[in-house]
Amino acid sequence: MLNNKNANGTTKIALITGSSSGIGWAIAEHFAKSGLTIWLHGVEPKPALEDRAIFLRTTYAVEVETFSVDLSSPSALETFAEELTAREAMDVLVNNAGLQHVAPIEKFEIEKWNKLLHVHLTAAFRLIQVALPNMRKNSWGRIINMSSVHGLVASEQKAAYVAAKHGLIGLTKAVALETAGAGITCNAICPGWVRTPLVERQIEDRAKASGRDFEVEASALLEEKQPSKRFTELEHIAGLTQFLCSEAASNITGSSIPVDGAWLAQ
Ligand SMILES: NC(=O)c1ccc[n+]([C@@H]2O[C@H](COP(=O)([O-])OP(=O)(O)OC[C@H]3O[C@@H](n4cnc5c(N)ncnc54)[C@H](O)[C@@H]3O)[C@@H](O)[C@H]2O)c1
Repeated sequence: MLNNKNANGTTKIALITGSSSGIGWAIAEHFAKSGLTIWLHGVEPKPALEDRAIFLRTTYAVEVETFSVDLSSPSALETFAEELTAREAMDVLVNNAGLQHVAPIEKFEIEKWNKLLHVHLTAAFRLIQVALPNMRKNSWGRIINMSSVHGLVASEQKAAYVAAKHGLIGLTKAVALETAGAGITCNAICPGWVRTPLVERQIEDRAKASGRDFEVEASALLEEKQPSKRFTELEHIAGLTQFLCSEAASNITGSSIPVDGAWLAQ
């Protein structure tokens, strides 16, 4: 279990972007189990987020607020940033929101490029700016950027995703340098395949294109890239996130940590 209290006795607050689904949801649930206040975020409309929030409140007796914000919109991001700046309260920031777009480079639409870069990279940059004053004031803070194996190597037809995830690792290092020694750490997690809606959509597209069964395509995906031939579990990523917020990880900063079944060992 994490220590959910700040030095002044207040309950720590964690903003997890993209916590309405998949990896972000698992991280939110783990933080809720540890008694942190959760700021739940997603692109979905508020009522869908509130359903999730009710589950966390009733199951774990924690405070939960919901934020429905499209991080691909510069004006929506700025309004969100200003709202959070006024609160000056964030202790843990997990930049996790994300989406995929698959197309050959010549056919990759600039709108898709801009969207992916804004959600994965620009939003992370802006929210880190917002989070730091409170973290510096408390001499404690944890920033975790959800990069990917695609932050360290490329795959075909994922130009924007690969560029954004590489950028996120650069941002992680820059922030770690600027906050080193201030009680704040900034790290990137680099998952390989995790079976979430983001990946299931890719498996569906492959199954449609090949005419093969969904599960056959899921196995093929693992066979191509992930030598362990098993999906990383949501709990594995959430558990690592918890570890990075623990005292034992207080001198780990600027790192990019793969959870990839040896994808990057090849
Ligand atoms: N699933 C994997 O195999 C895998 C591997 C490596 C990295 N990741 C990264 O993990 C993160 C979470 O992915 P996931 O697999 O849980 O996906 P998911 O589709 O289950 O969840 C995506 C989340 O991002 C949010 N989101 C999507 N578009 C948004 C937008 N325009 N504005 C704001 N929020 C938006 C959604 O609301 C949702 O909460 C992403 O950054 C992804 O790149 C996933």
